Amino acid sequence: MVVLSPRLSALCALLLTVCANAQSASTVTALSSSAPASVSSAVSASSTASELSSTVSSVSASSFATSETSVASITSSLSSVASESFSTLSSFSSAVSGSTAASSSLPASASSTDIASLSTLSSAASASTGPPLESTQITLPISSYGFTSFPVPSASPIPGVFPSTAPKSPPPPGSSLIPDFGPAWARAHSRARQQISGWSLEQKVSVATGVGWMGGRCVGNIAPVADWPGLCLEDSPLGVRFTDFVTAFPAGITTASTWRRDLFRARGLAMGREFKGKGVHVALGPMMNMGRIAQGGRNWEGFGADPFLTGEAAYETVLGLQNGGVQACAKHYINNEQEHFRTQESSNVDDRTEHEIYLHPFMRSVQAGVASVMCSYNLVNDTYACQNDRTLNQLLKDEIGFQGYVMSDWGAHHSTLAAVAGLDMSMPGDITFSSHTSWYGANLTAYVENGTIAESRVDDMAERIIAAYYLLEQDQNYPEVSFNAFDMTDPATNAHVDVQADHYKVVREIGSAGAVLLKNVAGALPLKTPRSIAVIGNDSGPSTRGPNGYSDRGGDDGTLAMGWGSGTTQFPYLVTPLEAIQARAQQDAPGTQVSWWLSNWDTAGAAATAFQQDVALVFVNADSGEDYITVDGNEGDRKNLTLWINADPLIEAVASANPNTVVVVHSVGPAIIEPWIENPNVTAVIWASLPGQESGNAIVDVLWGDVNPSGRLPYTIAKSPADYGAQLITGGTGDEILRIDYTEGLNIDYRHFDSNNIEPRFEFGFGLSYTTFSYSGLHVSTIPQADRTSAALEAAWASGKAAPAAAGGSTALWLHRPAFKVTFQVRNTGHVAGTEIAQLYVHFPAGAGEPPSVLRGFEDVQDVRPGESRTVSITLSRYDLSVWDAEAQGWKKPAGKFEFSVGTSSRDFRLKGTIPV
Ligand code: BGC
Repeated sequence: MVVLSPRLSALCALLLTVCANAQSASTVTALSSSAPASVSSAVSASSTASELSSTVSSVSASSFATSETSVASITSSLSSVASESFSTLSSFSSAVSGSTAASSSLPASASSTDIASLSTLSSAASASTGPPLESTQITLPISSYGFTSFPVPSASPIPGVFPSTAPKSPPPPGSSLIPDFGPAWARAHSRARQQISGWSLEQKVSVATGVGWMGGRCVGNIAPVADWPGLCLEDSPLGVRFTDFVTAFPAGITTASTWRRDLFRARGLAMGREFKGKGVHVALGPMMNMGRIAQGGRNWEGFGADPFLTGEAAYETVLGLQNGGVQACAKHYINNEQEHFRTQESSNVDDRTEHEIYLHPFMRSVQAGVASVMCSYNLVNDTYACQNDRTLNQLLKDEIGFQGYVMSDWGAHHSTLAAVAGLDMSMPGDITFSSHTSWYGANLTAYVENGTIAESRVDDMAERIIAAYYLLEQDQNYPEVSFNAFDMTDPATNAHVDVQADHYKVVREIGSAGAVLLKNVAGALPLKTPRSIAVIGNDSGPSTRGPNGYSDRGGDDGTLAMGWGSGTTQFPYLVTPLEAIQARAQQDAPGTQVSWWLSNWDTAGAAATAFQQDVALVFVNADSGEDYITVDGNEGDRKNLTLWINADPLIEAVASANPNTVVVVHSVGPAIIEPWIENPNVTAVIWASLPGQESGNAIVDVLWGDVNPSGRLPYTIAKSPADYGAQLITGGTGDEILRIDYTEGLNIDYRHFDSNNIEPRFEFGFGLSYTTFSYSGLHVSTIPQADRTSAALEAAWASGKAAPAAAGGSTALWLHRPAFKVTFQVRNTGHVAGTEIAQLYVHFPAGAGEPPSVLRGFEDVQDVRPGESRTVSITLSRYDLSVWDAEAQGWKKPAGKFEFSVGTSSRDFRLKGTIPV
């Protein structure tokens, strides 16, 4: 086999982009059906660089004659792509090699019948017709793709700094130890290699191919091979979907609102045990999209609008899930930031923004040893995310050093050659649901047999998948799948195993710790034994249909405790605020009068109910979800940012009748609350997010002061929707690919407000307490380093040189180990015990191109007694003080002074210092 030179390989890579660009130019169908025979021998071992580049232009000219994209624009895009996206081609050049021109005779537009007959075609392969395009969705030319496996990042464990770690023995939450999963991955890979060594090509392909939609008991299934039992893959990021006797945990967004790593971990661990208890091998979470737009339908599944907070939540959740025994799946990779046209939008993102904002949480997941990653529906820079060499091969597998496998989102797989771009597993396995065809399966086998895809790549796919299984020790007494996601009442396939244990406690604790107190005038809260309470609003009570009456929670009726779509579970029960308030009020003072009014539309009735009561508690909400369900005109994404079901008039009516009106909001994300937030009769507001099954109990804990609120907003609440820097893109018809240009770059959420001096209603990181805290005694130091293993790299970094591009370069220990330590004191200056969330924001040197403040550390200081002081320390790594240099393809320290602030939100800074870099 002849390995192509980097230059030739680069041109192969460029072909990928050319095709993708043409695809996005809106004539996708025409493109495929007109694939000309002249596109022959696109890559030949005998080609010289100049021959190949002329082939590129002839491909451009002839293939895309019907495309609106002009040849000139394609070729000019080649040069810019060459210097930007493909400046580090190491992975792709090892992935693209070959000795002969492609000898496939695949039809230009492969129909399902064609695909079924591919295996017979492959033996009769002929070069005469050349390598036509594969299908309507192709982004790589048919060619001959060799494969060399990715280098394993070189690192050795360092006890006390970088300890060798297995999923079963993670460092404690918030520990400054950096786990080294390298040795555990090495053992797992070696077992996997052994396992597949005698397998046939078909068997290895089978490991990479789901059995098809509803072809098994889980939402995704891999069939057994020999004595290996296959895999069950199941949603969701907040619990086990489509089964009973499981816990409905708080959503990701509520969990993030706690800003507590111990709770991130505890929730992950409890969920991991439940997935395992049900026999699920792969839990399809956590979800870590970035909340780039406030309206994003699935933002609530994730951890808010800051990469650092999201990264910490993802890291701890993965460690917890995998400690529980299940494989975690970091999703959706990448730039899947809105539901509208999610399968037909190209998120166009510059390399620096991609690294600093969107890639970061995935990198943190890899540092937590995540077993799998799910690529997303959308296109990234004009290439589908599930066949994107740049994001899958170059960023994830090479630069970050991910050693697990990439699965497609359900139906996000568009070509067999996605294998070459880095996709390891096709989910659910069929081309369209229940079509009984597959881009992998017989099609992949045929591509290997006809020389298009190297068998070593299929070995790599199977090895990665089976290694993840061994990484989690799923060969040791793993429970059988005991439920049927597609028929929850079938007696033959549902054992109704109860896996809930005492996880309701974690749910309740996160529900109260994630509640954010936004307003509290004259000590309105906590409640002080009120004699009469009015509970108002549809959101305070039950749905007429029960907690699971709407399929995948696709209805807003009764108290809102999760959004809708695949990111849901069945509720085992749902404690409503109304029932919890009644119980707590009687416990507080028997005979307390509790009245209620659940209709949001009859505001006169609500006002009358609230009249002359000691306190009126109004519950309102805002919902959203996944695009396959539309609720009240909201197609997944929210069509506006107002609260739902007449909430604003309801609150105003109640406030006009009762001068002590307390508003509780259950929301998927930010909402505009301008109509009533300054109303003096609205004395308190709690942003209670999506608390899961213990909703009522959790809010009662905060209302009565059994828990002193410490939640903080994981996003900004604006005064107007227009204040947010990025907006939902609507429109699009037919096959059109919607362009979504991330022109705001690094400025999402608070970064945009800060950069543009826009005053928010409540800033990112904001939240009140029933007590107050003071900050003092700031001290900053350099952390002495005993080992000198990477002294040269550290010195180069300190002098402002970009870190060298290397396999695993972005996750290298020297970049991430604690390098600076910030300490300070937090003192409780109020009258009740409370928890403070101390936040550290770095202000990069002017000229670094960063927003004014970026979150780089936080620490929960739990249960501080009145008058008590605690010393808090937060460490910073070199990575925390770096920016991505897109030209050099490395992390680097910008020149200048590094200042930082410590405080209680992204705008309330109490201490300021300088980092001695
Ligand atoms: C969602 C994924 C989910 C999958 C399986 C897709 O539509 O985007 O998040 O895991 O379905 O249900």
